Amino acid sequence: MTTSMMNPAPASARAAAASPLFSLLDVEKVFPIDSGRRQLKALDGIRLELRPGESLALVGESGSGKSTLVRVMLGLEPASNGRVIVGTQDLASLDRAGRQKFAREVAYIYQDARGSLNPRMTVGALLAEPIRLHRLRESREVDGRVDELLAQVGLPEATRYRYPSELSGGQVRRVAVARALASEPRVIVADESVAGLDVSVQAQLLNLLRDLQRDTGLAMVFVTHDLGVAAYLCERVAVMYLGRIMELGPSQDILRAPRHPYTQGLLQAFPRFDAPLTVSLKGEIPSPANLPQGCRFQSRCQWVQEDCRQTDPVQRPLPGRQVACLHPLPVPESGILHAASPGAAPRGRRA
Ligand SMILES: Nc1ncnc2c1ncn2[C@@H]1O[C@H](COP(=O)(O)OP(=O)(O)OP(=O)(O)O)[C@@H](O)[C@H]1O
Ligand code: SF4
Ligand SMILES: [Mg+2]
Repeated sequence: MTTSMMNPAPASARAAAASPLFSLLDVEKVFPIDSGRRQLKALDGIRLELRPGESLALVGESGSGKSTLVRVMLGLEPASNGRVIVGTQDLASLDRAGRQKFAREVAYIYQDARGSLNPRMTVGALLAEPIRLHRLRESREVDGRVDELLAQVGLPEATRYRYPSELSGGQVRRVAVARALASEPRVIVADESVAGLDVSVQAQLLNLLRDLQRDTGLAMVFVTHDLGVAAYLCERVAVMYLGRIMELGPSQDILRAPRHPYTQGLLQAFPRFDAPLTVSLKGEIPSPANLPQGCRFQSRCQWVQEDCRQTDPVQRPLPGRQVACLHPLPVPESGILHAASPGAAPRGRRA
């Protein structure tokens, strides 16, 4: 037995040592709007890496670009600028075989899980489809594998004979998770997989995803409106606002001591675990088709300074995280600053 098998390194240390599964280098996505007369920049200067076994949450208010980022990362939409690197290859230059391998290794759970499942297929057929498509089992073994998948997501065997329309919202999400697992991926990308469910059903599904990720060593990208959910499920979090990653780093550090005023605002406005970001923070949110000069968060930032109206801050490294702000919040001198507490004392003068 090797030393590493006797003393396995924590998942975060293993992830840091491995080379990235995905690297997004200054990715932009521009949509033409008003019959092509204007443009909307849905992604702007995105820099991101995902390593094997790592769990990353994309968090932000509606319209911040989470789904667009996921779609560009998966090659469902081309980037307008920048590059998406998968392993060592540019996603845009993968040949047919490379695309097929990519489709098997990266499974996507759509924001609309029910809409993504063919209503005319039984659950059994829906789960067997990727197994057959990617030739992962002999024909005689497919049924047994479907049973395994149902058990893995906590659904009774008899579910295989049901149609999606006969299932509850929570059951449908479990089927979507099982279908994602069916292709034996290295990465699962889940867009708002627990949104709209009862809190108790949400908690069950989150525990399921958390256990799966930890037990199987899958990498996971999890899109959510909820910082609490993000921190519960994922080791790292990327906080998005109007197409840009404002803060990126270890979830627990960011939750305890955010360094971007937007993250601080989110934590102060939505301190509860199950409070979704459906209500905006104070201040006017600019149109993504008409961003102001300078920082895109200036109209809502309680720390705005003169230079913020001139210079657009891009993601830059700070110790242990990346922040897109000209004047990041200071590291607390002692102890933990509970930015999540409503009415937390304003923080001191910053750099
Ligand atoms: N095909 C498109 N054409 C034009 N604009 C688009 C298109 N897709 C997305 N957008 C715009 O891009 C921005 C980001 O949208 P996106 O769906 O990625 O946000 P989101 O963070 O996933 O939001 P939600 O939380 O509501 O799902 C929004 O302003 C949206 O209106
Ligand atoms: S750059 Fe200025 S306006 Fe923007 S978040 Fe930082 S302090 Fe606030
Ligand atoms: Mg979305």
